[in-house]
Amino acid sequence: MKKTAQLCLLTLLALFMSVLSASAQDGEKLYIYKFCVTCHGQKGISMAPNYPNLARQNERYLINQVKDIIAKKRANKLTLLMTEHPVVISISDEEIAAVAAYMNSIK
Ligand code: HEC
Repeated sequence: MKKTAQLCLLTLLALFMSVLSASAQDGEKLYIYKFCVTCHGQKGISMAPNYPNLARQNERYLINQVKDIIAKKRANKLTLLMTEHPVVISISDEEIAAVAAYMNSIK
C-alpha cells in the first residue's frame, strides 16, 4: 500500500515536471512566433541599447511588465514598438506566462 502511494506520488511528480518543461518549451516557440525575438534578441539578449535584455529576468516581473505594456499602463515612445505590433498584442495571458517562464529559464 505504501509502495503504491509512493509510485502514485512519483508519477504525479513526473507529470508535473513534464508540464512545467513543456510550458517553458512552448514559451521558446512563442518567443519566436510572437516576434519578441526580433527586438529582444536570440536568448533574450537584445542588439539595440534601448531594447531591454530579458534573459533570466524575474518571471513575475516579466509577466507584469508585458501585461502593463499591452494594457498601456506602462506607456512611452518605446513601448509603442510593442503595442503597435499586431502579433505582439495578440498574445494571451497563458502565452505571456509561458514566454516569461522561458525568458526566466534562459541559460
Ligand atoms: C518591435 C520591437 C519589440 C517587440 C516585437 C517586442 N518588444 Fe518588448 N520591448 C521593446 C522595447 C523597445 C521595450 C522597452 C520599453 C521601455 O523602454 O519602456 C520593451 C520592453 C519589454 C519588457 C519590459 C522589460 C523590462 O525590463 O522592464 C518586456 C518584459 C518585454 N518587452 C517583453 C516582450 C515580449 C514577451 C514580446 C513578444 C510577445 C516583446 N516584448 C516584443 C520592444 C519590442
